Amino acid sequence: MPLEVVNHPLAQALVTQMRDKQTASPLFRRLCHQLTTLLVIEATKHFPLRACSVETPLESHQGVALASGLVVVPVLRAGLGMVEPILALYPEAQVGHIGVERDHETALPRSYYAKLPILQGQRILIVDPMLATGGTLLHTIDALKKAGAGEMSVVSIIAAPEGVAIIESRHPQMMIHTAALDRELNSKKYIVPGIGDFGDRLMGTWS
Ligand code: URA
Repeated sequence: MPLEVVNHPLAQALVTQMRDKQTASPLFRRLCHQLTTLLVIEATKHFPLRACSVETPLESHQGVALASGLVVVPVLRAGLGMVEPILALYPEAQVGHIGVERDHETALPRSYYAKLPILQGQRILIVDPMLATGGTLLHTIDALKKAGAGEMSVVSIIAAPEGVAIIESRHPQMMIHTAALDRELNSKKYIVPGIGDFGDRLMGTWS
């Protein structure tokens, strides 16, 4: 199964603090930053390397660099909170944006915004903190494929079995890295036990 639940004790402690409804936005953002760092270290641990040489102040050294560039694509708006920790780890990463919304007439997801770097030959990390129904993520993956994306993986804070199942059925090779696989979606399509509305808690639009 292309799902990795990152069971690192720090990751598990951080996601529990994020779930707590007493955790207000300033702390929530910091926890999101810390947890994303741990998840991304796991998500990138098999990235291929290429040899490269550098001159230390003393002599030449044969070292390594990532074999391809890295593009981070946040699923708006909640995914924005996961971009900065990735750039802190790997400042050379590029950031692509795709805005997806539900069309009021057809109820189908559609892109309302796209600004992407060249994707061919790059590794793509899609960051979607709450993998709930998977509808927005599916649309994002399809849009990225159309734009030329090859190697992609997903980093989420919490995933629902329903969302994982749909991604797995349509994109069986897609790796999903998450801190928690929760029980289910409720009737309003919120993940339970979950975290609530991630975007509201991150942006401070939650009361
Ligand atoms: N999006 C959220 O922010 N929370 C959920 O539980 C599901 C989707």
